Amino acid sequence: MELNRRTVIAGAAAAGLAATTLGTGSAQAAASGRKPVREPFGTLTDGTKVHRWSLENGGTRLKVLSYGGIVQSLQTPDRHGRHADIVAGFDDIADYEAKSPYFGALIGRYGNRIGKGRFTLDGTSHQLSVNDGVNHLHGGAKGFDKHVWDVEPFTEGSDVGLHLHYTSVDGEMGYPGTLRTKVTYTLTRHGDWRITYEATTDRATIVNLTSHVYWNLAGEGSGTIEDHELTIAASRYTPTDSGLIPTGELAGVAGTPFDFRRGKPIGRDLRAGHEQQVQAKGYDHNWVLDKGITARPEHIATLRDPRSGRTLRIATDQPGLQFYSGNFLDGTLTGTGGRTYRQGDALCLETQHFPDSPNHPHFPSTVLRPGQPYRTTTIHTFGA
Ligand code: BGC
Repeated sequence: MELNRRTVIAGAAAAGLAATTLGTGSAQAAASGRKPVREPFGTLTDGTKVHRWSLENGGTRLKVLSYGGIVQSLQTPDRHGRHADIVAGFDDIADYEAKSPYFGALIGRYGNRIGKGRFTLDGTSHQLSVNDGVNHLHGGAKGFDKHVWDVEPFTEGSDVGLHLHYTSVDGEMGYPGTLRTKVTYTLTRHGDWRITYEATTDRATIVNLTSHVYWNLAGEGSGTIEDHELTIAASRYTPTDSGLIPTGELAGVAGTPFDFRRGKPIGRDLRAGHEQQVQAKGYDHNWVLDKGITARPEHIATLRDPRSGRTLRIATDQPGLQFYSGNFLDGTLTGTGGRTYRQGDALCLETQHFPDSPNHPHFPSTVLRPGQPYRTTTIHTFGA
């Protein structure tokens, strides 16, 4: 603990933090957050201005765009106190608008796929926007990742953060009901990044919000994540068909490459040739978390990079985790640091409800009704 505190202070000092912030020399002073700062980031093709907010607390530095609530940069110290940006992103708003595979974005109204974009609710069938072959992916052609959110900064006790608001009108992308959404990004004095998703609807609908950060704990653009060690507290996962739609089966991970219960390097079984991996070009599946839905966030996954020593621990109240091993990164995108992203250069760990739940009555329900608030929380804890 003592070592950790010192590295945080060293990192803050190296970054040239104001002397007043470090004045007392205490860990507490170094960890107190600074008011979020806003700057212009660019202009969308329709002329809308996009801003970038920068915030910092407890050694973690976060940059968030008003477009898509995108985490454009997230820096944490390594075991020597050296900061690096550990999320994939772009420098330029035009790249986000034209070709982003959801880098860092908020995903809504429904994370992951809905088969053929169809579902039935209370006897009425709904057709959603179809944007992934014949299926609906991450909210459709213009999901929450492609809208400009209203952003409101806050400081509360020792926390700093942003409230992001977006209202999705009745019928948007085919979804019933007007959905009022509020997402809160908080940086705590320990440098944890907490996301709280809240929503209300005026008609019965479905909702499954998540965050699509691509992690590389060695630093974005530094190469493969295959040596990162991953632990997932899940004994089952949801196998998919060739369109990556769950078949409905909850399959055991024991004896398969999908077993991350004891932790292992991601690359260890990545080429095992399991038909589910061949189909998805790697890992791109929903793990059924053993804890199920919980009233409070519980620890469900740990990612560790042995080279930098950085760790990421994830806690959530949600029932599922989509682990995507960056299979579709193909060397055509150039990231923030000027290097191209190739297959497996970053990975996603998306806390969520199971994909295609509206078409599988035995999956936990994603239905939201008027008067029934939606509220879920995921916490990212960084270490080194
Ligand atoms: C999905 C992948 C998809 C990626 C977006 C992930 O959440 O599981 O199949 O390709 O998002 O680019």
